[in-house]
Amino acid sequence: MEGDAAGGWPEPVVRVQSLSESGAATIPARYVKPEPERPKAELSGGGRRSNDDEYDDEEEEEKAIPVVDLSPAAGGDPAATARAVSAACREWGFFQAVNHGVPGDLLRRARAAWRGFFAQPMEVKQRYGNSPATYEGYGSRLGVEKGAVLDWGDYFFLHVRPPHLRSPDKWPHMPPDLRETTEEYSRAVASLCGRLLAAMSAGLGVAETRLQEAFGGEDQAGVCVRVNYYPRCPQPELTLGLSSHSDPGGMTVLLADDRVRGLQVRRRGAWVTVHPVLTNATYRSVEHRVMVNADEDRLSVALFYNPKSDLPLAPMPELVSPPERPPLYKPMTFDEYRLYIRRKGPKGKSQVDSLKAAADGS
Ligand code: OGA
Ligand code: NI
Repeated sequence: MEGDAAGGWPEPVVRVQSLSESGAATIPARYVKPEPERPKAELSGGGRRSNDDEYDDEEEEEKAIPVVDLSPAAGGDPAATARAVSAACREWGFFQAVNHGVPGDLLRRARAAWRGFFAQPMEVKQRYGNSPATYEGYGSRLGVEKGAVLDWGDYFFLHVRPPHLRSPDKWPHMPPDLRETTEEYSRAVASLCGRLLAAMSAGLGVAETRLQEAFGGEDQAGVCVRVNYYPRCPQPELTLGLSSHSDPGGMTVLLADDRVRGLQVRRRGAWVTVHPVLTNATYRSVEHRVMVNADEDRLSVALFYNPKSDLPLAPMPELVSPPERPPLYKPMTFDEYRLYIRRKGPKGKSQVDSLKAAADGS
């Protein structure tokens, strides 16, 4: 692949933003999804449920995405917070967090800095063009399969931690506050991830430090940021901004666009649209996808909190008790695990399922 004009990609890279700005009334065939994958014309319901809300109507509750209040002051009961986090992780693999402690001003600055990056002329952005070797930098596809149907979105991917994985040359210099703001944002959200891991550990009935330790400890855990930019799309009903997938890492905190919806999570086979609550960050590891629309572009910042990448990971012994609860996954490293998505691109939950099959010996 070296010396390839496409920088290691199987075919020349086309920026979705350029397609969008060309003003064409139709999208290229490469972006048209097969019928069953297309978003429904009717956006699914997806109300939201606060943990204190009483719901009489069971069906409503089924569809309501959990909202978890993380403020230490909320009831002053860490055990209640841990229970709410744990229930959301079990039932949905996703929740919206409120009172998460990341300052609103920092969220605004992070969004503005990255909107500023994508607003720059194409030749500036192209300097950061990425390759499938590390995916760091400005990208427009995930996966290297030639002829694959592509998603309607561009992104910027960066390693933030541990320090030896950082590539300072990949960090944009403009807007001038982008580097510092991204650093500050990552620090605040990584610390939130630490609190969530403690709550998730408690929810599993193991020591609060257990998951963080399993990740290799706070200093060794991986932090990556993927900023997604979904330009306006003339035929949003035919494509997706990001195909169905589940994130490979330990947990993801998503700073959703505060104006434009698009994220959907899958619950019992149905796609539920997330209606972000204001100043929220969102956590999930559920199967999800992104819709685009004709009127507005959309920007999101996903922070992935990952285990140390060369650590063999396996189900915690405390949670395994054959024959009732056999280990569902074989030990593997995060480096090995994420290769699947990097080669094949987003493919629903097929990655997780293939691992389960491997553990069965089938
Ligand atoms: C991701 C992702 C969702 C969004 O980056 O993995 O799922 O709303 N993003 O952009
Ligand atoms: Ni995702």
